[in-house]
Amino acid sequence: MDIFTEWLRTTITVLVAVFSISLYISLNIRSNKSVPKLPPGPPKLPIIGNLHQILGRPRHEALWQLSKEYGPIMQIHIGSKQFIIISSAALAKQILKTQDHVFCSRELFQATKRLTYNFVDIAFSPHNGHWREMRKLLVSEFMGPKRAKLSNHVLVTEMESIIRSMSSNPPNTEVNLSSMFLEIVKQMVCKVAFGSDYRRQPVNGPSWDVMLGETIELLNGSVGDSFPFLGFFIDQFSGWNRRLNDGFKNLDAYIDTIIDDHLKTNTEEISEEDKDFVHTLLDISSKETDSGYRLNHANLKALVMDIFSGGIDTTVVTLIWAMSEINRNPRVMQKLQTETRNCMGKIEKVGELDTTKMTYLKMVVKETLRLHAPAPLLIPHASLSHTQIEGYDVFPSTAVLINAWGIARDPGTWGENAAEFYPERFENVEGDFGRDRFEMLPFGGGRRSCPAMNTAPANVEFVIASLIYWFDWKLPKGMKSEELNMEEGGTLVLKNKVPLCLVPAKHKWED
Ligand code: HEM
Ligand SMILES: *[C@@H]1O[C@H](CO)[C@@H](O)[C@H](O)[C@H]1NC(C)=O
Ligand SMILES: *[C@@H]1O[C@H](CO)[C@@H](O)[C@H](O)[C@H]1NC(C)=O
Repeated sequence: MDIFTEWLRTTITVLVAVFSISLYISLNIRSNKSVPKLPPGPPKLPIIGNLHQILGRPRHEALWQLSKEYGPIMQIHIGSKQFIIISSAALAKQILKTQDHVFCSRELFQATKRLTYNFVDIAFSPHNGHWREMRKLLVSEFMGPKRAKLSNHVLVTEMESIIRSMSSNPPNTEVNLSSMFLEIVKQMVCKVAFGSDYRRQPVNGPSWDVMLGETIELLNGSVGDSFPFLGFFIDQFSGWNRRLNDGFKNLDAYIDTIIDDHLKTNTEEISEEDKDFVHTLLDISSKETDSGYRLNHANLKALVMDIFSGGIDTTVVTLIWAMSEINRNPRVMQKLQTETRNCMGKIEKVGELDTTKMTYLKMVVKETLRLHAPAPLLIPHASLSHTQIEGYDVFPSTAVLINAWGIARDPGTWGENAAEFYPERFENVEGDFGRDRFEMLPFGGGRRSCPAMNTAPANVEFVIASLIYWFDWKLPKGMKSEELNMEEGGTLVLKNKVPLCLVPAKHKWED
């Protein structure tokens, strides 16, 4: 072979190789050209995204309004951060049931990092083995039958003292139910979780109620979180960073007091019966669990934080909304009075009140949770992997907000009277919301649903039944039932703006 043929062969080989590689690449690009199909959404502005469209009014209302234009799945941007917004029962079912395994994680927002001791709590932890162990612990040790018995016992004691005190009020005394409910639930949760009377004020820092409110505000997140470079400065200048520091310091000191008090007592001297939740956790943290998991100090504190922030306000606002709706609707009040009193007849002791057969009462509580779900957008879910919803691409680590507030008021599923308080609508409804049905989601759904889903309503029912059974209620002087203020306020947890005050009169049985 002469040098020319050699050269020609090499050149041709190289050319063929180059040609086929480029052909391969170009074909591949063309087939990969399937650009992701993103959900529709309002046009965004540079830097701030759609922030201007949701500022100035409650987020869940603004998003519900936008969904009317863009559909049940839409995307919005806050700063550079993409959020998927779900606004129908059918798509909520997709996220919380059909594709629950994809959407059962949480996003790591900087704002929640400190309060959750670096995401080792339950509510804000990403989906992992640690979360599973912690959740198992909470369900078995805090929500088991033993604690249920204890919380019922605390509730009865609380109601006894409240009923006694309200019965001895002079006629026409107004009672502040907002503060009364807070005291009851505080006592119940603190007794069961922490043992002694932790509703007393912390030694230093703000009052207990202020600390609780502030913790929940802080968990709602900061604006800076959505701005990768400017975020730190936004949070610094808005005063957020200082607020977070102070808020965390106060809460952490409070939790330390609780744990230190428990460490001072020798748990071996306490009977199993008398051990509270923190005692049990300290016991557990001294050794590995059966599955080889070990609870450390930060985990324990994060669990206490979750109970503090998730277990109290949610129940309190449900109680306030329930009493507000009942008093705004004389028809409901009357039916409820008849049911509770007929079911029980005349009893002497608060503890004898048994709500298990009070079907109308259960519907009243359900209807309250439909119209006033305490967490209007749940806690943001996040995707673990790439998937499609309604043919739209959703990428890993996308934050998903489910508009539980809007879904539960959707006239499309609830009919013309969707906005009305009408407990009878549940008369022939079968199945559990958040598990089998998704037209309302007061406790979320799927793996991330509220672990208190089954236990929380019973406590609400007992308190409401006691108040309705023992007292006849009137509105403050001169107020008509339709004038009762039902305005919403709050952030992560929705509450009524104006505290609820009513006038009780001890019910007189006709002998
Ligand atoms: C009426 C009372 C309550 C309501 C309406 C309520 C509602 C909710 C909602 C909407 C979620 C988010 C679900 C989701 O993201 O899909 C949640 C999560 C959670 N709730 Fe509740 N809750 C209540 C009471 C409680 C109580 C008493 C506790 C007990 C300590 C509690 C502890 C938690 C925890 C730990 C989570 C996080 C679950 C997880 O991420 O795996 N909640 N709750
Ligand atoms: C009722 O109680 C709430 C909560 O403790 C408090 O913020 C409010 O000022 C009280 N309102 C009245 C009228 O006493
Ligand atoms: C906190 O809640 C308020 C009221 O709903 C909302 O306007 C605000 O944007 C929330 N903060 C974040 C970071 O989402």
